[in-house]
Amino acid sequence: MPFRKICCCLLVINICCEAVTAQPNNTIALLNKVSLQFSLDQKGIPQYAVYYDGKAVVRPSRMGFVLSNSIVLNEGFQLIKTDSTDVDETWNPVWGEVSSIRNHYKQVSFHLQQTQTPNLLMNIVFKVYEDGVGFRYEFPRQSNLTYFIVASETTQFNLTGDHKTFWIPGDYDTNEQLYTTSRLSEVDAWKSDMVSTGGRALNVPDQYAVQTPLMMKTAEGLYINIHEAALVNFPAMQLHVDRASHSLSANLVPDAAGNKAYLRTPANTPWRTVIVSDKAAAILSSKMILNLNEPSKLENASWVKPMKFIGIWWEMQTNTGSWNYTDRPDSLGANSKPFPNGRHSANTANVKRYIDFASRNGIKGLLVEGWNTGWEAWYGNWNGRHFDFVTPYPDFDVTAIQQYAADKGVEMIMHNETSADAATYDQQMDTAFQFMNRFGYHSVKTGYVGQIIPRGEHHDGQWMVNHYLRSIEKAAKHQVAIDIHEPVRPTGLHRTYPNFIACEAARGNEFNAFSEGSPPEHETILPFTRLMGGPMDYTPGIFKLRNYATGAPGRQMHTTLAKQLALYITMYSPLQMAADIPASYEAHMDAFQFIKDVPTDWDDTKIIEAEPGDYITIARKEKGKNSWFIGAITDENSRIANIPLWFLNAVEKYTVTIYGDGEGADWKTNPEAYKIEQFIVTGKTVLILKLANGGGAAVSVMPATAEQLKKLKMYK
Ligand code: NOJ
Ligand code: CA
Repeated sequence: MPFRKICCCLLVINICCEAVTAQPNNTIALLNKVSLQFSLDQKGIPQYAVYYDGKAVVRPSRMGFVLSNSIVLNEGFQLIKTDSTDVDETWNPVWGEVSSIRNHYKQVSFHLQQTQTPNLLMNIVFKVYEDGVGFRYEFPRQSNLTYFIVASETTQFNLTGDHKTFWIPGDYDTNEQLYTTSRLSEVDAWKSDMVSTGGRALNVPDQYAVQTPLMMKTAEGLYINIHEAALVNFPAMQLHVDRASHSLSANLVPDAAGNKAYLRTPANTPWRTVIVSDKAAAILSSKMILNLNEPSKLENASWVKPMKFIGIWWEMQTNTGSWNYTDRPDSLGANSKPFPNGRHSANTANVKRYIDFASRNGIKGLLVEGWNTGWEAWYGNWNGRHFDFVTPYPDFDVTAIQQYAADKGVEMIMHNETSADAATYDQQMDTAFQFMNRFGYHSVKTGYVGQIIPRGEHHDGQWMVNHYLRSIEKAAKHQVAIDIHEPVRPTGLHRTYPNFIACEAARGNEFNAFSEGSPPEHETILPFTRLMGGPMDYTPGIFKLRNYATGAPGRQMHTTLAKQLALYITMYSPLQMAADIPASYEAHMDAFQFIKDVPTDWDDTKIIEAEPGDYITIARKEKGKNSWFIGAITDENSRIANIPLWFLNAVEKYTVTIYGDGEGADWKTNPEAYKIEQFIVTGKTVLILKLANGGGAAVSVMPATAEQLKKLKMYK
């Protein structure tokens, strides 16, 4: 019997056996209902399969790589060693949806070597969790492989049927797209509503490629989520869908030369993740992606503070102000000279008004966009070398603003739009962060609108993945928290870099300002897709829901006002914007109270009910306090949310303030109708809340005061 065959046989030995349900024969690790198979076939091809409760989730699927110069790293292997270990530990994130996280898994590593010269080595490491499986490839140090180029990854995810799928096209440069819900067999990236403006894919060469996190539901009611964790020094993985066989295969985002990754041994890939459950809520509460990331690299991260902020921002998005100080070159006549356009929002007087509003209402941060020179030509054909990140427009007095903000207890948030000129930002970053330190900025929002410079690189390729991480590390060195817009979608790296406090990486609320917007179901899909990788700067809290955009009178939000409030809970972020302008809030101070009260850091989170594409209800406990906040949202269909308050302290009485949809509320025809009610509740209360079409409800639950106990009725 050749050695390789002996190895195949060895693998069928069940090395950690806790079976409660029938498991497939060659199970190599099992935790609760999740089990993993691994084998090398006759040709030495590595294959894995994932099971849930004894039923296949991923059928036997190929693994490995092809390197440049036709070096094949996906067959001809034999097993030289297997290691396994069990881990069960808990850790405390610096900030998060919960204050303590259990990391419980069984790890099995297969050390493989090719039988033919040059006898290359590759390891495959699996971690089996109660809610899924993660695996990654390691390329050990070896004399026959040092510097190498990945030409393609041949990992497959062979699925068991034509699942319902929530997907966006495999664009290399944007994830700001609308989700299509279809069968796998119907995926067609070229036919979907692809991008923000123009409805045309920027860069989707593969008609059948989709992005991750990919959310699926089987006919039997299993929820499956495929993504990756700890994306470092590697391109993003997209998935090619074979519509006939329901097989997905890794599609790595290429660089300018068409290569996928440049590595040097020892090296490893990100973790490929398959999260699975028969409950949709368990997908949202999974901590597997965070657990697969490395612990914090910041020695002391106590300076990273979750917070709410407002911004000189929505007025530009809705075109009542401008980022630029003079007019854009394309709007100037042939002989005219640039002159102040009189619409520049980031002027000292306006900034002070926003500081006053923030200070009056206990909102910690203020973002000001358009403060620095360069906005006359920030997008379109001019992209490149506009911004230096340190030169303010003449009407923005950095020193005076800083002083005024400090006096009023408000933190200024820096804005660095790069116009996707990452090459220039790399050169300027030191200077930019020194500027932030000098003027007391502790957070920055960066942005990458446009085509990447260096030309040919993509937002989701290895070069940019490394660039985003350089910016995160540089920010950490300067004790600055960073919120990246237009980055590759997140993969849990905020565990390792807690100053990576949020990012955009999906179609945010702003699309309702500058495009036809996003349908009401959008916010019920995002937590199952984009947010699986980390917090999103979605910019909720728009109160003026219709006719806010000058020059585009028909535009409206695709939610009710109450749903805008609920998003503070359902769309998790430690950095949460109150996105509307002060005047809109001043018109509804009673509803604004929820935004003032809602915290941004949590001890605990309970997913009360959830179904991707339909509805989500989440309750969260404020960090260090005995208060809970609940958000319930629905898609275009109205529904009743049943919310048992079993998580409350059993003996205590609480005051609930319900910010719900009002009589006749409907996202389209009557989005402003809301009503606010207060009651006394206990842990036995079940709230029954009616959500309008495109509606929602936000609820604060705080220990009742003596006065409230006297005044308010019990909830019935
Ligand atoms: C796109 C971002 O998503 C948006 O928030 C920002 O205002 C503009 N870029 C300008 O940087
Ligand atoms: Ca954006």
